Amino acid sequence: MVNVTPSTLELNKVFAGENFTHACICSHTPLKNWLLLDFDIHQFPFAKIMSQQILKCNNIDKYHESIMAQRAQFGLPQKLFSQDNLFFRDMIITQTQGSGLIELYHQFINKFLAYKVAHELSFDERPDIRVHLPGTLPVSEFHDDYSITHHFEQINMWLPLVDTAGTSTLWLESDYGTGQVTPIDVKYGQVLLFDGGILKHGSRKNETNNTRISLESKLSLLGAGLRADAVHLLDRFSFVQ
Ligand SMILES: [Fe+2]
Repeated sequence: MVNVTPSTLELNKVFAGENFTHACICSHTPLKNWLLLDFDIHQFPFAKIMSQQILKCNNIDKYHESIMAQRAQFGLPQKLFSQDNLFFRDMIITQTQGSGLIELYHQFINKFLAYKVAHELSFDERPDIRVHLPGTLPVSEFHDDYSITHHFEQINMWLPLVDTAGTSTLWLESDYGTGQVTPIDVKYGQVLLFDGGILKHGSRKNETNNTRISLESKLSLLGAGLRADAVHLLDRFSFVQ
């Protein structure tokens, strides 16, 4: 019995309408469906900006302790909920104005990632910022992005601002259509690139004592529009890893 995900069904519909050569090009998979790249945190000091300019908290992974201390001052309950992840995400987004974080994200893609693959990249104007506080459930279900975006040509970038492992990190489907997800431990100073259009991904309840804050974006080769372009982009990153 072969597991067929909604994305697989969508892919088959597309391939059915293409000529044979095109289908052959589009149906192959990348050399690696996920990979990690190291970057220089002094050249791209995301965590420094987040901690000093936005959170005003020395240790991002202990941000929840600042929240608790503030709540204690006002006599509020000392418990964190899933909705707090959204509340603090929104608060951070409003604080990014003038912090330099978004400009640094643009530089990171244009001067680091695009340089690596020797090609201009299209990317989200602003990264998605995610917060995952200790003891809380994630705010979204496991999913593949193609079902939402209908963009075959994109791959995913996931950049945590703290070291992540186990239930504080991103979980990724082990292979296409398996439905089996495993954690991908990512340290600060690494960026995870993965085939999130098709591979299911998401988070578990954060059972660690660390707050995770991460930046996410979708990337594609400038001018791309095909599934083969996403495969090609991931393969370019594999060659220079
Ligand atoms: Fe996603």
